[in-house]
Amino acid sequence: MKILNREPLLCERLNEFQQPEYRQSTNVNSVEFDEILKKRRTHRHFTSEPVTSNQIREIVYAATRCPSAGHTQATRLLVLQDPISREMFWSSVSQPSWRNSTVSHQDLDLAPLIIVIFENAEAYLHRYSRDDKRYANLNSLSDFPSPYWTIDAAFVGMALQLAIVNQNLGYLFFGIPDRGEKLRQTFEIPPSLLPIGAIAAGHPSSLEISSSSKRNPKLTAQEICISNKFNRNSAKL
Ligand SMILES: Cc1cc2nc3c(=O)[nH]c(=O)nc-3n(C[C@H](O)[C@H](O)[C@H](O)COP(=O)(O)O)c2cc1C
Repeated sequence: MKILNREPLLCERLNEFQQPEYRQSTNVNSVEFDEILKKRRTHRHFTSEPVTSNQIREIVYAATRCPSAGHTQATRLLVLQDPISREMFWSSVSQPSWRNSTVSHQDLDLAPLIIVIFENAEAYLHRYSRDDKRYANLNSLSDFPSPYWTIDAAFVGMALQLAIVNQNLGYLFFGIPDRGEKLRQTFEIPPSLLPIGAIAAGHPSSLEISSSSKRNPKLTAQEICISNKFNRNSAKL
């Protein structure tokens, strides 16, 4: 299915807004990093208030600032803003019965911005076959010590999330069912790209329905960090 009347994506004008002068003049809403960390949390209910072009530019700019193994930079983002594309997205990742009945995610589909994040494993095989990386002997995907393509895509995902909070917006990150098969057909996603998840972002509504996941309280730094050596207590996960 073709996407009708697709507006030019803001990220297609990346060069323009990467200029330092542009960034200094537009980034007026930003808050300090500590504040961003404290404010960051998952939202599942949104109003239909639009997200501005500048906000979207700032958010996708964050993706360009992320590290990647071998500087492969293979993560890709599908940025959906117009209502038709967003509706096509929701139809591809969820059943109408879920959308109409779920209370925990009521008004999630009002979020005016959706960003689907893709990893590309093949790109790493290609990158690590080049002269400067051949020494690493990473000749097949199973040779990699960990899935660099997923790590890099997750880093981009985290940067996007913090950038969204920096714009005083809220978001939900969620996984895509069935490895995005339906999404692949709808948006003509190339075979080399696999969605690792999507972010729905916008202005959070006042509706607050606690997620079941919240029954797991946040761990303290002490609980997360192991000093010097693992012991019997630290094995408790
Ligand atoms: C990989 C991943 C998948 C997630 N999938 C969902 C999801 O399908 N639905 C949902 O409501 N939240 C989802 N979340 C959000 C988590 O439930 C949330 O981050 C967690 O409960 C902690 O809450 P906080 O983000 O407010 O700190 C997901 C988060 C991650 C990192």
